[in-house]
Amino acid sequence: MTRAAVISGLGSWLPPRIVTNDDLARELDTDDAWIRSRTGIGQRHTADDRTATSDLAVEAGRRALKSAGRESADCVVVATTTPDRPCPATAPLVATGLNLGTVPAFDVAAVCTGFLYGLGVAGGLIAAGTVDSVLVVGAEKFSSILDPQDRSTRAIFGDGAGAVLLTAGDPDAPGALGPLDLASDGTGSDLITVPSGGSREPFTARTGPGYDPYFRMVGKTVFRSAVERMAASALDVAHRAGWSVDEVDLLVPHQANLRIMHAVADRMKLPRERCAVHLDRVGNTAAAAVPLALADAVERGRLRPGDRVVMTAFGGGITWGACAVRWPDVTPI
Ligand code: UT7
Repeated sequence: MTRAAVISGLGSWLPPRIVTNDDLARELDTDDAWIRSRTGIGQRHTADDRTATSDLAVEAGRRALKSAGRESADCVVVATTTPDRPCPATAPLVATGLNLGTVPAFDVAAVCTGFLYGLGVAGGLIAAGTVDSVLVVGAEKFSSILDPQDRSTRAIFGDGAGAVLLTAGDPDAPGALGPLDLASDGTGSDLITVPSGGSREPFTARTGPGYDPYFRMVGKTVFRSAVERMAASALDVAHRAGWSVDEVDLLVPHQANLRIMHAVADRMKLPRERCAVHLDRVGNTAAAAVPLALADAVERGRLRPGDRVVMTAFGGGITWGACAVRWPDVTPI
């Protein structure tokens, strides 16, 4: 019998410190009205100096396990743009932090699409019978790579973590991962990038001209591409699930920018009210955005057991994707 990966637990965690738009306006040439009208963001959470991405991931992972009523998982996948260190991966630290023993643990680097890529590889490991459960975490201390002087990125990005526990189950069970679309286009690798600190521009060139350790984004080009890619990918998985757009109860897009999310819904001919919005309170949390938005939607009664959900994301690489799922009876913690 075919084994499917079924969502059995959902956890979320935000570092307590909140940075409002007014807080940013005291430091940078920006204001609340610009940020709200251009992005839909009102505030974001920022981790303190002692907290790393793995700390956020452990907290979200612990909550996802608790939500599933379990104490263990057979594998940990961490999707992140901001690993604790360039080497090694963050996932083994997360597995150890959760007392999971010597389970396989690895990172997925697909920037804001990372959580969907994580679902894809985790679903494959379960379907192949390699493991029976996988904790998939999207976690970011995105503030750690932002240029303190760059108002366009400081206004958008925030820190946080979200996680799901996937367990082996029946393909028809509520929560079974349905059709999945994953894609990339490396010709766009300069659009969303940290230019230095990798093998192309190593740390050893730190003092050289052009060394840039901060996150950079070509906002306008990314905007257009994000709308086209997310809408097409979301429609593709809905179609493959056998759902008309009218039958999609909730679209959970990557929380990039409210204007992008509304444009995706418009392009799909989906009423904007059926688009989950969480970024007003947390900003764009990159790989953590989709699971955080899922948890928020359940907590606010926007997502109920049996609902037809389409998740979609777009990010650096460039990468994009979508996944359809019938929502299970899972309560986020
Ligand atoms: O998560 C990965 C995917 N990311 C995204 O999908 C983000 C996609 N892009 C965006 O969300 C938008 O492009 C931004 C929010 C980044 C920018 O909005 P925009 O409407 O595309 O503005 P823009 O980049 O064309 O900038 C317009 C002006 C510029 O000033 P000048 O050059 O016209 O004088 C910017 O410097 O707005 C300025 N600006 C700001 N002004 C006040 C940029 N950021 C700010 C700010 N406050 N925070």
